[in-house]
Amino acid sequence: MLHVLLLSPCQLSTAATMKSLILAAVILQLVIIGIKTDGKVSYFHITVVKYQFGDIIEFPRKIGTYSHYAVYVGPESGVNVSQGDNGIFHRTGTSLCKRYTCEFGKLNKTRGKSNDKKRNYLDNDKEYPAENRTPVKIRERIEEKNEECRKYKVFTNNCEHLATYVRYGIGRSLQVSGRLNSCNINVFIIFFYKVTSGGF
Ligand SMILES: *[C@@H]1O[C@H](CO)[C@@H](O)[C@H](O)[C@H]1NC(C)=O
Ligand SMILES: *[C@@H]1O[C@H](CO)[C@@H](O)[C@H](O)[C@H]1NC(C)=O
Repeated sequence: MLHVLLLSPCQLSTAATMKSLILAAVILQLVIIGIKTDGKVSYFHITVVKYQFGDIIEFPRKIGTYSHYAVYVGPESGVNVSQGDNGIFHRTGTSLCKRYTCEFGKLNKTRGKSNDKKRNYLDNDKEYPAENRTPVKIRERIEEKNEECRKYKVFTNNCEHLATYVRYGIGRSLQVSGRLNSCNINVFIIFFYKVTSGGF
C-alpha cells in the first residue's frame, strides 16, 4: 500500500491519485479495526498501571470537567502507614458529613470505570525537589492529614491539593483556576444548581 502512495503523485492524474489515496485510507482503516478486534485482550491489559507508594493517581470522571485525585499507598507497597488492605489515601467527599474527611480507600472501588493514571506532574519542577518526597516524608504527611485534614474547599483545599501536599509538601491544584475541579459529583451538582438558580 505504501508503494502505491509514494509512486502515485508523479505517475497518475489527480483523480487517480485521489482514488488510490481513498483506497489506501480504507484499507488502512480496515487494518486498524482488525488490530483492535484481534488484539482486544492485550490492548486492555496495556492500560493496567503499576503504582508505587506516593504516586499521585488521577481518576478522570465522566462529565469531563474535573478529576478525582488520590495518593497510592499499597497494600503491597512496602511502606506501612497503617493502610491495611487499602490502596489509596484521599479526600473522599464534599458532602456535609464528609467535608473534613481524608481517609484510606480501595483503589478498585474509587476507580470504578474510569481510566486512572499516574500524575506526578510536579516531579520535574525544580521548586519541588526529590528529597521532599521520600517515602518517610510522604508517610508523615499522610499521618498528619489522616489526623486532621481541614475543611473541604473547592478552590483552596480540594482532593488535588491533598494529593500534591502529600507527595510534594505543598498543596497545589492545577485546574482550579481555569475550571471547576472537585472531588466528587456533589459539588458539581451544587455548582450547577447555583448557576441555574441565579448564580452565587
Ligand atoms: C503496620 O503498622 C501497624 C501500626 O504500627 C501495625 O498494627 C500493623 O501490624 C503493621 N502492618 C504490617 C503489615 O506490618
Ligand atoms: C475489585 O473488587 C472486586 C470485589 O471486591 C473483585 O471481585 C475484583 O476482582 C477486584 N478487581 C480488581 C482488579 O482488583
